Amino acid sequence: MPKPIYILAIESSCDDTSASVICNDNILSNTIANQTIHAEYGGVVPELASRAHQQNIVPVVQQAIQKANIDKKDLNAIAFTRGPGLMGSLLVGTSFAKSLALSLNIPLLDINHMQGHILAHFINDTDTTKPPFPFLCLTISGGHTQIVKVEDYFKMSVLGETIDDAVGEAFDKSAKVLNLPYPGGPLIDKYAKKGNPLAYKFTKPKVGPMDFSFSGLKTAFLYFIQKKETENPLFIEDNLFDICASLQHTIVTILMDKLKVAVKETGINHVAIAGGVSANSEIRKKLKETEKTYNWKTYIPKLEYTTDNAAMIAISGYYKFLENNFSNSDISANARMKVDN
Ligand code: KG4
Ligand code: ZN
Repeated sequence: MPKPIYILAIESSCDDTSASVICNDNILSNTIANQTIHAEYGGVVPELASRAHQQNIVPVVQQAIQKANIDKKDLNAIAFTRGPGLMGSLLVGTSFAKSLALSLNIPLLDINHMQGHILAHFINDTDTTKPPFPFLCLTISGGHTQIVKVEDYFKMSVLGETIDDAVGEAFDKSAKVLNLPYPGGPLIDKYAKKGNPLAYKFTKPKVGPMDFSFSGLKTAFLYFIQKKETENPLFIEDNLFDICASLQHTIVTILMDKLKVAVKETGINHVAIAGGVSANSEIRKKLKETEKTYNWKTYIPKLEYTTDNAAMIAISGYYKFLENNFSNSDISANARMKVDN
């Protein structure tokens, strides 16, 4: 039996500080400190995010090691999110990972955050099945909306993506129009469950067959609410559930229509979703339905691995470790990394 590989992973690309310990492909711990401060500002404030990471990183890492019931000396490598993300936030995780690896005299593994979201599907778990290569992944988060063709753990190419806002932004900015706190995506999901998805109609964007655009929908939504409020100042309160259900229905229909094009174009019917918005109950349900209606094989991540977490960085680190693909000690954060580099 080969010796088990223990990796500590650190994720700090946006507003959550997270650390995870993995043993081969089994997650032993995944601790997350959410930053609540941003809710007051209606969005992530980069300077506040990096300061909060600095405060959180030591206790979060300590907790992850403790929960995993291992000693620091058992670790074989440190994985960290190199990018994409907020530069100040990435720097906190990067410099912490580098100094810890140096002090323990173990190698470093730099991980691409977007690849991490996708590779979360390879975490060993009895409830989920690992997708076979090649598969398609709809990667939907607060910063990205992409259809990715995944040919191997680190061989990915973008088939289509948003030309403006990400889908998470469409949820969050529309939620702001409805006076809901940041991040509004989960709340729209919650209220949509009680509403009629066909109550209001919003137009869908016209872009390339596998590309997305959400800025037009965001503006149309704002004008729609403003117009309705001139007729009835209590329009939002009176119709919140129907508004959320109709908006969510529009967004999910856009996503599903593009996925259908991608499956048709590539002939690949193994389809996964990843990223924070893949927590959305409607997209999860609609994707699952395609197993019966279109004979797709679908891969839906566990909720805890949808929004930002270090477990996805840990599993990516494990596969990089197996490839002996370690980082140089002069590696630096990269705020603008693409999923295919
Ligand atoms: O992947 P993630 O945690 O961070 C980024 O890398 O951006 O994604 C965060 C995004 C936010 O826009 C949030 O509103 C959205 O994911 N989100 C949801 C849901 N849960 C999180 N959007 C819709 N429905 C949800 N249930
Ligand atoms: Zn993310």
